[in-house]
Amino acid sequence: MNKTWIRRLQAADLDAVSELNRLAFNGSEEAAIVRRLHADQDSLLSLVAHRDHDLVAHIEFFRILIDGKPAGVGLGPMSVKPEVQGRGIGSSLVSMGLTVMAGRGESIVFVLGHPEFYTKLGFSAALAEGFSAPWSGPAFMALEVNKGAPRSGELTYPAAFG
Ligand SMILES: CC(C)(COP(=O)(O)OP(=O)(O)OC[C@H]1O[C@@H](n2cnc3c(N)ncnc32)[C@H](O)[C@@H]1OP(=O)(O)O)[C@@H](O)C(=O)NCCC(=O)NCCS
Repeated sequence: MNKTWIRRLQAADLDAVSELNRLAFNGSEEAAIVRRLHADQDSLLSLVAHRDHDLVAHIEFFRILIDGKPAGVGLGPMSVKPEVQGRGIGSSLVSMGLTVMAGRGESIVFVLGHPEFYTKLGFSAALAEGFSAPWSGPAFMALEVNKGAPRSGELTYPAAFG
């Protein structure tokens, strides 16, 4: 039986993560964002999931400035290998990452992604609406991971997002 486990990304994993991103997104844009986040030391947390010896999923968390202060966290890119999608691996990665962020005292996490997937994990587009950001609409969501999170402000993303 396959076992799945989660660990922190190491520098040696970046090639495998790039390949995974290319497979999951069918393009190279997300792989380039991940490499740039790491090159610029803008990654806050990067986790990977293994099934036996195969790296099958990856998630990235990075700093977002709110009104110029390091008060927000961004989630993404994240990807799960196509042949193991829909088995709960993506949800486990998000949950573990959010637990780490909450434990570090972060208060709010933003994501741009599939509403059906992220709302099941507690994210809400209504919470993100109060912020001025490069994105808007139902795919732009936020989740309060500790009480007292800001409700509005201007978001600044790392250079990796252009
Ligand atoms: C989106 C993604 C990360 C989800 O990971 P996953 O391991 O397949 O998701 P899970 O198995 O944990 O799914 C949890 C729930 O979300 C739903 N879900 C997953 N992906 C979804 C999608 N793309 N659209 C709608 N619902 C989705 C599942 O059906 C499941 O619902 P259920 O609990 O009612 O069964 C993964 O499918 C993926 O890598 N997709 C391609 C790349 C991508 O789009 N990344 C997202 C960037 S934000």
